[in-house]
Amino acid sequence: MSSTQGVSAKEEIKRAADIVELISQYVQLKKRGRNFLGLCPFHSEKEPSFTVSPEKQMFHCFGCKKGGDIFAFWMAYHGTTFVEALKDLAERYNIPFDEARVGAREKRAALKRQQLLRVNEIAADYFFNALTQGHEGAKAREYLSTRQIPQGIVEDFRLGYSPNSWEGLTRSLEREGVDLSVAALAGLVVARKGGGYYDRFRGRLMFPILNVKGQVVGFGGRALGQEMPKYLNTSETPVFHKSEVLYGLHASHQAIRSSGRVVVVEGYMDMLSLWKHGFKEVVATLGTALTEQHVRKLKGYTSEIVVVFDSDEAGKKAVLGSLSVFLNHGMVGKAVVLPQGHDPDTFVNQEGVERFTSLVEAASPMFDFYIHKAMALGDGSEEKVRVLEEMLPALAQLRSYAMRALYVRRLSDAVGLREEVVWAELKEYQKRSRGRSGASPRLTEKLSGARVSKKYNRDIHFLNLIVHHEEARQRLADTDWTLLLSDPVMQRLAKVLMDRGRSNDVDMDTVLESIQDPEVEKELREIMVMPSFYGPDAVETAIGEFEQKIEEIKLAALIREARERGDMVALNEALKMRARLQAPNQTNS
Ligand code: UTP
Ligand code: MN
Repeated sequence: MSSTQGVSAKEEIKRAADIVELISQYVQLKKRGRNFLGLCPFHSEKEPSFTVSPEKQMFHCFGCKKGGDIFAFWMAYHGTTFVEALKDLAERYNIPFDEARVGAREKRAALKRQQLLRVNEIAADYFFNALTQGHEGAKAREYLSTRQIPQGIVEDFRLGYSPNSWEGLTRSLEREGVDLSVAALAGLVVARKGGGYYDRFRGRLMFPILNVKGQVVGFGGRALGQEMPKYLNTSETPVFHKSEVLYGLHASHQAIRSSGRVVVVEGYMDMLSLWKHGFKEVVATLGTALTEQHVRKLKGYTSEIVVVFDSDEAGKKAVLGSLSVFLNHGMVGKAVVLPQGHDPDTFVNQEGVERFTSLVEAASPMFDFYIHKAMALGDGSEEKVRVLEEMLPALAQLRSYAMRALYVRRLSDAVGLREEVVWAELKEYQKRSRGRSGASPRLTEKLSGARVSKKYNRDIHFLNLIVHHEEARQRLADTDWTLLLSDPVMQRLAKVLMDRGRSNDVDMDTVLESIQDPEVEKELREIMVMPSFYGPDAVETAIGEFEQKIEEIKLAALIREARERGDMVALNEALKMRARLQAPNQTNS
């Protein structure tokens, strides 16, 4: 819990601010019903699904599901921490605010991040000194020269060496007065069972990983020989997220901006080799495919991303995986494949930077790249079907209808199938994949009827009723409402609400804030932002219908059981009850 003082600063700002006024400064909003609607600033879209509710003082995007209060908007839009958002908004609305009043939890989290960064900084210096000065570092220096990495790179990228000892870093950190539990959280040391700590990185060439601000957020350590794993990386910490981080970006962002493109490679060494040859618009993922978060980050610098793959096969798969990410962000994604047996490091060292640059310049857009590779295998009908099947997931992930239409056309042209066939297959695919767990369909789709399973539709209506109508929640709380719901997230949300029992003062904002489960939280916010489906006169009827539905479901179960047992008396009884239950309904339907 935040301290009461922190809460009140936040509350004061909330009272002074109006979310529609605030967001209007950044997003064009149009009034639509009770809400305001605009194009989402957090993902690219052609049709507005970014919704701001003046009543709830919340925003919610039905496309990308981002949402929350003014603070959440400020943090997401300006990329600030919560504390910074508090400060900025306090200033904007003239609320006296001093940092000491910030909520204790936020302060602790910020402090922890500071501590982690400090430990990483000390460790980077320690590794750097061990590489450049220590006599043990000679081995690593020799290794670097076999990899043709010059001193300038070592300095610019603060490379290092972790001596092959169990307590070298541990003791050094102790001398600096570092709390070793923080070093353990940073992934630099490991707690011993019997107490005490030991070094996690031993005998490795160290690559500090810096964020754009130049702060050390984590490390990668390469074995000098054949030891496994080849690379040991910092695991997730509050300052290090593998799926977001881009190695080298702190150094290359200017070159990326000025050249208008970025080349993405997979390895630390690949990044450094290209840099060494003067090819500076380059970053490396940590051996993973490019994620949505990576693209989001790069989008701030350029709109052209060229991904380099080591081989055709791996490349073809990866291209399919990231195609939709690029298209959804309005980015040009291109693919380069290196000759068999090469990675960017070996290629640029052997063939030179001019040849590398020409490959980059000749890179094809990912869609064409994929189609070309796939069709190279033959253009019989079997191949066509396979290409189509492989493309369907990528097409289905496109968020804009116009984009989907464009690529359906291009795909049908490329493989020589009629457009209607591609559309039909795509629809079929979407239907199939919706049945599986995982991403729930967009609410707009959920509500458009035909595409929604009947059951899911009931979940949505039930939750809408109990979120917007206190009385309905109270009345239904003691029934067997769980029988009505099929979706697990909706189940969890309903439980959160129903656990409040018959109490009168359930405030949805408070409930929303108390929810820890992000899926449940998004769902509740979505429902709160949507208007109620039920006018004042319809609430009573809706409660009655849900009560009846529960009885019907129970009876159906009784009937099934009686049939199974062959219990004719019970069966007859249950059938009669069902007839009675449905009778009044039939007359007025
Ligand atoms: P590669 O296996 O392609 O290695 O992994 P590399 O970059 O060519 O390394 P060198 O040239 O042999 O030194 C590519 C990237 O995948 C991650 C690292 O980030 C690496 O740079 N990786 C690889 C790991 O995290 N762990 C591993 O065990 C291997
Ligand atoms: Mn390599």
